[in-house]
Amino acid sequence: MSKTIIISNRLPLKISLDDDELQVTPSVGGLATGLKSFHRDGDSIWIGWSGLTEEEIPDHLEDEVKEKAKAEACVAVNLSEEEVDGFYYGFSNRTIWPLFHYFMEYTEAEHSSWEIYKQVNIKYAKEVLKYYEEGDRVWVHDYQLLLVPKLIRDEQPEAIIGFFNHIPFPSYEVFRTLPWRESVLEGMLGADLIGFHTYDYERHFLSSVTRILRHQVDFNEVTLPERIVKVDSFPMGIDYKKFEDAALNHFRGTEDEQSELQRRLDLHLDATPDAKLILSIDRLDYTKGIANRIRAFEYFLDKYPEFIEKVRLVMLAVPSRSNVPQYQRLKREIDELVGRINGKFSTVSWTPIWYFYRSMPFDNLIDLYTSCDIALLTPIRDGMNLVAKEYIATRTDHTGVLILSEMAGAAHEMNEALIINPNNFEQIAMTLKQAIEMPKDEQIERNKTLQKRLKRYNVEKWAKDFMSALEHTEDNRKSFESI
Ligand code: ADP
Ligand code: F6P
Repeated sequence: MSKTIIISNRLPLKISLDDDELQVTPSVGGLATGLKSFHRDGDSIWIGWSGLTEEEIPDHLEDEVKEKAKAEACVAVNLSEEEVDGFYYGFSNRTIWPLFHYFMEYTEAEHSSWEIYKQVNIKYAKEVLKYYEEGDRVWVHDYQLLLVPKLIRDEQPEAIIGFFNHIPFPSYEVFRTLPWRESVLEGMLGADLIGFHTYDYERHFLSSVTRILRHQVDFNEVTLPERIVKVDSFPMGIDYKKFEDAALNHFRGTEDEQSELQRRLDLHLDATPDAKLILSIDRLDYTKGIANRIRAFEYFLDKYPEFIEKVRLVMLAVPSRSNVPQYQRLKREIDELVGRINGKFSTVSWTPIWYFYRSMPFDNLIDLYTSCDIALLTPIRDGMNLVAKEYIATRTDHTGVLILSEMAGAAHEMNEALIINPNNFEQIAMTLKQAIEMPKDEQIERNKTLQKRLKRYNVEKWAKDFMSALEHTEDNRKSFESI
């Protein structure tokens, strides 16, 4: 029976080493959290990196790493320290990530890391070929593996290959600056179907294909000498039911079952029943606009001092890519900003910002989503932003206000949220005031519409739509052969 082979840089599980014992935790990030339910419910294997380098895995634990991955229908690819440096911290996160998010000043163009990126893409493609059988569907994910579709195609010309990019695709004027632009586009065009979160990213990609490779593009199809490649947008959804059920169960739980975090949140509410909690959750990444958000919050408190002691920003930032200098600098900047603002506004009974720098278990995320009156998500650029969708899904009484940056892919589907420009502090401050003062009826009306949409366009539908479009590319092939 044919199967789907999912391939992404990271597996949905992250293996780490603690005192000579392997620990398994769920991976953080939209790709892993979103795709996990498709993998869980379907007939697929998932190939990716375990999170440990070859050097970190002691010989006697090598088999256990494989077993831990196998238990979740995953295959762990081993990467050496040098590969993780050049491929992951290097080309993926110092070249492609900043460039595709329009941070050109952060974009490096190191030939040596490009060479390692190529080598590691070959390694991943080889791993796929080990498991590939005729009739299988191969689904390659994200910017770390842009060359993999072509590498598989070169070995298996008849394979049915899909590629999905989870981050933005930048405009041609930005993309053209990449020294290896031709190879990257050719790598992606190894797929039969290329998917993006939004129509804009799709358009930018097609414009680069036309102008750089000079291929013929008709509407959303690229004609290569031997094949047609279809390009389309598939906005990724969430496992809506999982978040809705978790929120419902959360409210059913007794006091004894509550987490320490929930108890603290409740204490805050008991002490200041009228005070509003404003939530932000992201990986600690410069694309997420965290520093700007804190500054905008400061601006808000300066401009509307009547809200002092009446609001609190609960900020959760998950450590991410901490070997990359810009991430280290950002961490210092945020520490400094939080310290300064807490110092400036705190009173004996109130601190304006609660800041957590860590990953949290799923139950704690639900505590935060369900307890906070407002979610303030202000990315400078974001492929999608699933946190926005998760927040709305957990609001089972339909209250709550989502403030969302127009630069997030999710903003295209979430018009009922309060949409802001993340660089405009004045607008953010005014919108915060609007959110705090928004009547319950209005919150409910907006959220009911959002929830209906998110429930329908959930992650299952996203995967189904992509896979069914991938199946249809076979028709494309047949008509191409008959020309
Ligand atoms: P990105 O993919 O850029 O990280 P998204 O908002 O699309 O951004 O996805 C982030 C995912 O990671 C969400 O599914 C969210 O629930 C999860 N997540 C975010 N913060 C945490 C955290 N502190 N602990 C656990 N999971 C988290
Ligand atoms: O969704 C974008 C994404 O970059 C994924 O590709 C990635 O897995 C996730 O965010 C988290 O980043 P990382 O794998 O570098 O920790």
